[in-house]
Amino acid sequence: MIHIRMARRTDAAGIACIHATTWKEAYRGLLDGAYLENLSEKRLTARWRTHLDRREEDRDEEILVAMNGRELVGFANASASREAFAPWDAEIPMIYVLKEHRGLGIGRGLMKASADHCIRRGMFSGGLWVLRDNGAARDFYEALGGESQGRKSDSVGGQIVQLVGYWWRDIAQLAERSTQSISPGRF
Ligand SMILES: CC(C)(COP(=O)(O)OP(=O)(O)OC[C@H]1O[C@@H](n2cnc3c(N)ncnc32)[C@H](O)[C@@H]1OP(=O)(O)O)[C@@H](O)C(=O)NCCC(=O)NCCS
Repeated sequence: MIHIRMARRTDAAGIACIHATTWKEAYRGLLDGAYLENLSEKRLTARWRTHLDRREEDRDEEILVAMNGRELVGFANASASREAFAPWDAEIPMIYVLKEHRGLGIGRGLMKASADHCIRRGMFSGGLWVLRDNGAARDFYEALGGESQGRKSDSVGGQIVQLVGYWWRDIAQLAERSTQSISPGRF
C-alpha cells in the first residue's frame, strides 16, 4: 500500500537513488548524456542529507516521500518561491516517481501533499518550471489544472536548457484537483 509522509534525515539515500535513477531515465535525450551518467548516488545522498538538515531551519520547505511499504518510490519538495520575479508564492521544484510505479496516482498524491503544505504555510499561489521538451510531465501538470506561465532558459550541468512555467493562481485548486485517495487519511 502507498502512503505519503514527510521525509526524514534517514531518507537521504532513498531520495538520492530515485533522483539519480529517474533523471538518467526521464531526461535521456533532454539533458547532456555525460552529465546524466556522472550523477552519483553517493554525492546526491550527501546533498540530500544537507538539504534535509537545512529544512529544519526553513519551515517553508517540506520534502515529501511516497512509500510502497518500506520502499521509497517517489518524492517531491515544496518551498516558498526563491525567485524575485516569479508570480507564484510557493514552488514545487521537484517531483519524481520511479518508472514502474507511475500512472497509479502517486504523482497526484505528492502534488496534493505539497499543495497542502504550502496552504498550511500561508502561501496562496504555486508554480514550477519544467523542461520545455518534457512532454509527459507537462501533460501531468496540465491534467492537474496547471496554467502555462512564462518561459526562461537556465543552465543544468553546464548545458543551457529551455523551461516553461506552470502555475496555479489558487494553490487550493491544485490540492483539490490532486485529490485522489491512494491511502485514505494520509494526506
Ligand atoms: C510526472 C510524474 C511525477 C507523474 O507521476 P505519476 O505517479 O505517474 O502521476 P499520476 O499517476 O498521479 O497521474 C496523475 C494524472 O496526470 C496525468 N498524467 C500522468 N502522467 C502522464 C503522462 N505521461 N501523460 C499524460 N498524462 C499523464 C494523468 O491524467 C493522471 O490522471 P489519472 O490518474 O486520472 O489518469 C512521473 O511521471 C515522473 O516521475 N516522471 C519522470 C520525472 C519527471 O519528468 N518529473 C517532473 C519534473 S518537472
